[in-house]
Amino acid sequence: MSDRLYIFDTTLRDGEQVPGCQLNTIEKIEVAKALEELGVDVIEAGFPVSSPGDFNSVVEISKAVTWPTICALTRAVEKDIDVAAESLKYAKKGRIHTGIGTSPYHIKFKLNSNEDEILQRAVAAVKYAKKYVEDVEFYAEDAGRSDNVYLAKVVEAVIKAGATVINIPDTTGYCLPHEYGEKIKFLMENVKGVHKAVLSTHCHNDLGMATANSVSGILNGARQVEVTINGIGERAGNTSLEEVAMIFKSREKELGISTNINTKHIYKTSRMVSSLMNMPVQPNKAIVGRNAFAHSSGIHQDGVLKNRENYEIIDPNDVGINESSIVLTARSGRAALKHHMENLGFTLTKEKLDEVYQEFLKLADKKKDIKEDDLLMLAGEVRRENHRIKLDYLQVISGKSLEPMASIRLEIGGEKFSATSSGNGPVDAAINAVKQIITRQVTLEEFLIQAINKGSDDFGKVHMTVAHGERNYNGFGAHTDIITASVEAFLDAINKIPTVKK
Ligand code: KIV
Ligand code: ZN
Repeated sequence: MSDRLYIFDTTLRDGEQVPGCQLNTIEKIEVAKALEELGVDVIEAGFPVSSPGDFNSVVEISKAVTWPTICALTRAVEKDIDVAAESLKYAKKGRIHTGIGTSPYHIKFKLNSNEDEILQRAVAAVKYAKKYVEDVEFYAEDAGRSDNVYLAKVVEAVIKAGATVINIPDTTGYCLPHEYGEKIKFLMENVKGVHKAVLSTHCHNDLGMATANSVSGILNGARQVEVTINGIGERAGNTSLEEVAMIFKSREKELGISTNINTKHIYKTSRMVSSLMNMPVQPNKAIVGRNAFAHSSGIHQDGVLKNRENYEIIDPNDVGINESSIVLTARSGRAALKHHMENLGFTLTKEKLDEVYQEFLKLADKKKDIKEDDLLMLAGEVRRENHRIKLDYLQVISGKSLEPMASIRLEIGGEKFSATSSGNGPVDAAINAVKQIITRQVTLEEFLIQAINKGSDDFGKVHMTVAHGERNYNGFGAHTDIITASVEAFLDAINKIPTVKK
């Protein structure tokens, strides 16, 4: 049986402090409900004394959320604690999070005080908060740079005063993982009564070590971890929830520690927070970045297609992503191209694959990444081979003062049929000519022309939707001649109509 690690999410407090990330109350409720669905144990909903908006958000989140503990931040100041208690009145389980700086910097330069006075203020704040709620968390701000012996003294005193959780923040992200781990170990071994409370990690990412420090703290005895979605937070951010959740899920057997997070909700929660807070997730961000499960080199793609675990330690489904993405670039190999072609329904022989691959490389050199349309274009000949109705010949005459005329020859089931028609433009003339041969009633519903790259020598791609009876059929064509591409798209759609004869 694994030890339980409690997840304390501070996206709505430490995360929301980031300039430009502010949310209104409705948006905060939306995030809080997503956090509840994700399975977090504690939601830090705000710093109620800081503004009426923050106060109101804590009230409304307390009403909206069913089972997680709702936490409100305060300084070690009675007024803050009164306001926090008031904001938590609807919480089914409420926690006050109070604290004060314990590092020499904070004691001397921020608080203009001394160690004894800080210790007394810490104890007084906890006792005051205890008048309102049973669950009181104490934070020793800048614990990362605090002297361990003094820190232990403060922690012991606040536990004695009734604190249920002790937060050891590395406020400036200064610690190295082994130092932070030793700090937690020191407290576990030297604080009398430490087992009456839960030690909590709260690590900032200034040196990119927030997650490593949190894990080190947990391995040394902390059983609550303070995190944010996507690692957002002051400056370089906080420890990210998704990283911690996946570390303890994927290494549960060795580490013997587990969380209550339903990891399948991670990706959608990450997207929600990113879009509500206007905070893009860096593409290479662990677990939730766009590239976290994308393989682009030929060797890796081939390896993943043979067995996902060759290059992936996490199943993307476990975090709510449908599948690993095999990105097509100039470095992709035949295996990746074959995989994508098969997904689009084209089975290529080895020779055909070689041929298409050479064309693919030329295109990939010009374009950064290859999209579905590009593959449809590359598969053009293969697709046409499967068509019952094929374009055999097309000639169009058009110009400024000419009535557009098109002559067309189609091959249908091995037989050839010709027609000529005019139209209000060259494409219209060509489509009219096709319609003279195809006796089925079809109408053009949608017609979209785009360039694949740039430049007048470029391939044009055409998407068409054709209606027949009750149904619509989509077609695609690509060619340097846009009229040919249009006729190909029209025929592609017509070929999908089940019983078209002639
Ligand atoms: O980083 C920090 O020290 C904090 C405290 C207020 C908990 O966010
Ligand atoms: Zn913080």
